[in-house]
Amino acid sequence: MKITFAKPSVPASGALAVGVLAGRKLMRTAAAIDEQHGGLLARAMEAGRFEGKKDQTLSLVAPEGLGVSRLLLVGLGEPKKLDALAAEAYGGAAIAALLTSGAATVTIAAEGIQGAAIRPDRFAARVAHGARLRAYRFDKYRTKEKKEDKPTVTEVAILTGNAASARAAYAPLEALAQGVFLTRDLASEPANVIYPETLAAEAKKLASLGVTVEILGPKEMAKLGMGALLGVAQGSAREPRLVVMQWHKGGTEAPLAIVGKGVTFDTGGISIKPAGGMEDMKWDMAGAAVTIGLMKALALRKAKANVVGVAGLVENMPDGNAQRPGDVVKSMSGQTIEVINTDAEGRLVLADAIHYTLDRFKPKAVIDLATLTGAIIVALGDVFAGLFCNDEALAGRLIAAGEKVDEKLWRMPLHETYDKALKSDIADVKNVSSDRSAGSSSGAMFIKRFTDDAKWAHLDIAGVTWAKKDSAVVPKGASAFGVRLLDALIAAHYEKK
Ligand code: BES
Ligand code: MN
Ligand code: ZN
Repeated sequence: MKITFAKPSVPASGALAVGVLAGRKLMRTAAAIDEQHGGLLARAMEAGRFEGKKDQTLSLVAPEGLGVSRLLLVGLGEPKKLDALAAEAYGGAAIAALLTSGAATVTIAAEGIQGAAIRPDRFAARVAHGARLRAYRFDKYRTKEKKEDKPTVTEVAILTGNAASARAAYAPLEALAQGVFLTRDLASEPANVIYPETLAAEAKKLASLGVTVEILGPKEMAKLGMGALLGVAQGSAREPRLVVMQWHKGGTEAPLAIVGKGVTFDTGGISIKPAGGMEDMKWDMAGAAVTIGLMKALALRKAKANVVGVAGLVENMPDGNAQRPGDVVKSMSGQTIEVINTDAEGRLVLADAIHYTLDRFKPKAVIDLATLTGAIIVALGDVFAGLFCNDEALAGRLIAAGEKVDEKLWRMPLHETYDKALKSDIADVKNVSSDRSAGSSSGAMFIKRFTDDAKWAHLDIAGVTWAKKDSAVVPKGASAFGVRLLDALIAAHYEKK
């Protein structure tokens, strides 16, 4: 799907989407159409009980004399509330309604709006970004899709007063979308296609963009003493990998480190999960996928930042060589861990991946992303990801970045009391607490033991990484939650201007 920017004019073919402000106020292109056709749009809005409220849409067959086949009215609400997110939602709503409409070209009117909370060129760029993000599909395995269900749109044209400057504002957003799409693709792939070796190979492709990519196998990891990560991997026929990606374009400053949980399939191991819903565990590598997609976005937009991305990749399977409940493993940090429950495997992978990252890179801060606990879904549903953080400034920055891109975080507690429940009778720590309470905080406190007092944030993304239904810019499926958030965080705080 090609995205273009052009000066406002009614297109000669395809479908046209126009924004309508609260109170049925038409923008320039729409007002011209209405006038030429004797108040047709005003009458249609009246008859369709369409008022221009945010998220309202009204689809019309275009009147005779117009080149376009279909007109879509999209409510934008009050001008003063029109910000980047509202612009993205507009583009998203337009493309969602028209993607399979039969039209090859969708034109979206995005002229500047008086009193809006965003500059006209940025408004147009964000409309384009919203359309791009929402138009994503993962349909490579569909061989029998009906013609009428297939996307027909090959071009989205955005109408704006200053096309050149909108195009420039859009360039980094296109890079970001490519990162988001890589993450969505990787998380959507089944576990017979994406496993540690193949996921590492996907990360390796970023080398062509200037990212330094190293891949460690089991031998190297054994040498480093990564007994916690290797213990999880030992029940699988698939070898584990540790992917280390470096984007070093920010001068001499210490990097920001991102560490992702990459369990390419989580059966639970010997503490096996029930059958119902187990297929979801193909996306237990979403943290790693976000890390890889973020590195792609940073490279494509040539971010002036130093960022290290590390992904711990394993498959958690229960074969004859699998680790048993009660096994004791030694982590790279030297701490011994009693593995009470083999299904609490993400924290074991992160223990070694985070320790390795801190030890080698001495980053300014480390942020891990993990589909860590079912308990975070109980607490926050799909509305917020859980944020656990030992640094107030970092927590504030993350929450603000999340608000900016609508990837919302809710601060959750880290507390010594949760740590006490991780005391083992025979080792330094056990991987689950003595009772089932506060499961997400308990998991976070386990990880905290491997963070060496560095500035650290842990994002539990188990509830937000897979969308059960369409929303503004995220179609049902893999959301890539975290890519846009971390890109915004880096742009705001870790990048040379
Ligand atoms: N990958 C799961 C967490 C998960 C559950 C993610 C549902 C997405 C949806 C994780 O490895 C896990 O199994 N966690 C256990 C921890 C427990 C054994 C302490 C859980 O949440 O039940
Ligand atoms: Mn598990
Ligand atoms: Zn897991």
